[in-house]
Amino acid sequence: MSQEKQPYYKAGFRTNSEEHQINDLPVRGEIPRWLQGRLIRNGPGMVEVDKPMRHWFDGLAMLHQFHISDGKVSYRSRYIDCEAYRTAKESGKITYSDFATDPCRSLFQKVQTVFDPAPKITDSAKVNIDQIDGKAFALGEPLMQVEFDPETLESVGVFHYGKKPGNRMTTAHPHQDNGQAYNLVVQYGPVNYYKIYGMVGEVKEVASIPVMEPAYLHSFGMSERYFIIAEFPLVVQSVKLLLRLRPFIENFQWKGNRGTRFFIIDRQTGKLKATIKTEAFFSFHHVNAFENGHELSVDLAAYPDAGIIHEYYLNRLEQKDKELPFGRMERFVFDLDKKQLKERKILSEACIELPHIDYEQYHGQSAYRYVYGCGIHPDNRQEFYNQLVKIDVQTGQHLYWHEPGLYPGEGVFVPYPDRKAEDEGLLLSVVLDVNKGQSFLLVLEAQTMKEKARAYLPHTILFGYHGAFFKQLL
Ligand SMILES: [Fe+2]
Repeated sequence: MSQEKQPYYKAGFRTNSEEHQINDLPVRGEIPRWLQGRLIRNGPGMVEVDKPMRHWFDGLAMLHQFHISDGKVSYRSRYIDCEAYRTAKESGKITYSDFATDPCRSLFQKVQTVFDPAPKITDSAKVNIDQIDGKAFALGEPLMQVEFDPETLESVGVFHYGKKPGNRMTTAHPHQDNGQAYNLVVQYGPVNYYKIYGMVGEVKEVASIPVMEPAYLHSFGMSERYFIIAEFPLVVQSVKLLLRLRPFIENFQWKGNRGTRFFIIDRQTGKLKATIKTEAFFSFHHVNAFENGHELSVDLAAYPDAGIIHEYYLNRLEQKDKELPFGRMERFVFDLDKKQLKERKILSEACIELPHIDYEQYHGQSAYRYVYGCGIHPDNRQEFYNQLVKIDVQTGQHLYWHEPGLYPGEGVFVPYPDRKAEDEGLLLSVVLDVNKGQSFLLVLEAQTMKEKARAYLPHTILFGYHGAFFKQLL
């Protein structure tokens, strides 16, 4: 592809391999003094080693910290110190398998794999950040989550779910309630299982569902009484994963005629309350779930199929005329007495991905109204995510923040200390400014989606995925 045909936002997919520490970033506008804490973001920091990575979900994890105090902002970035990073640095080669990129292997090594099925899956946990049991974790989909120091960003150690990771994957989107954290684990083998684990204290299996062909699952749902696993028909024969002849995601196949199955699991007993089939669709992100008597509502950012995964290959993203499929907020309402789908509805026509709610106060609450996320502006449709959206799921209306040439990442909501309305707070996002060749921390007023301030870095940051705001040090 010639240089001039590449889209301007390509800087968001190019390695910026330096680790930085910068005090007192220049601030335009005013950051409210009550906002004290650290926005920490996760995502790929290095996407070229001996060869370029192939997909937006590949790369070696880098943490970015924006420390906000008394209206000032300082910045620090560090790679997650893990085996995949260390060996890449020492050998100059990709040595661990990633989402859609494998190390270069000879035919002999591929044959060897058949006799030595233990895959070297990356331990570079680059998808999300969460605070679990008083500790900060970088979370990825392999079953190794990396604890880090939220002040220095130094890696502390690796958390396993009781046993060695083996042939299991998890999600980077655990749920929390009443001091316990839960996550979904997919276990591959002669029999495959979806398992829910409690992660605080002694790691404990709370539910287990055997399946023939497991699906690629990026998140799961939880309401007051239920876990919800939406099993999209992007499925794998697990022997293909155990042999690892292809990169992880390329072993999965879309089987649309299977439909999507919702497994609704009683949180108290771990037993299946209902299995309900719907038309096929795909989603990365459950957004919220709540109950109303015998009805259960499950909200997701949904796509008609899993084509979005293909669209995130870097050679696709760098084509100027491509259009990303829209993710849309959809609600599935289940009648748990009749064990059937009562209603499926689109909550908004606005494109949304990387959805975020005020989880602490409004997760599991039927009264919740607002979802924040990245979207694509209709006037600049042939681009990567170029606006922040706020969707009112009760009215279907949305507000947005968009400026040509700016590409925002996930918006993280931080409520006012004395807020009364759900959306009284700030939305924090890291934005790539392609005209300046710099990224900046953006502070929006969440109620209006109007800008309050921005703090520029002297360099660009790769497009990441998820992050969290730590109000104070742990
Ligand atoms: Fe995610």
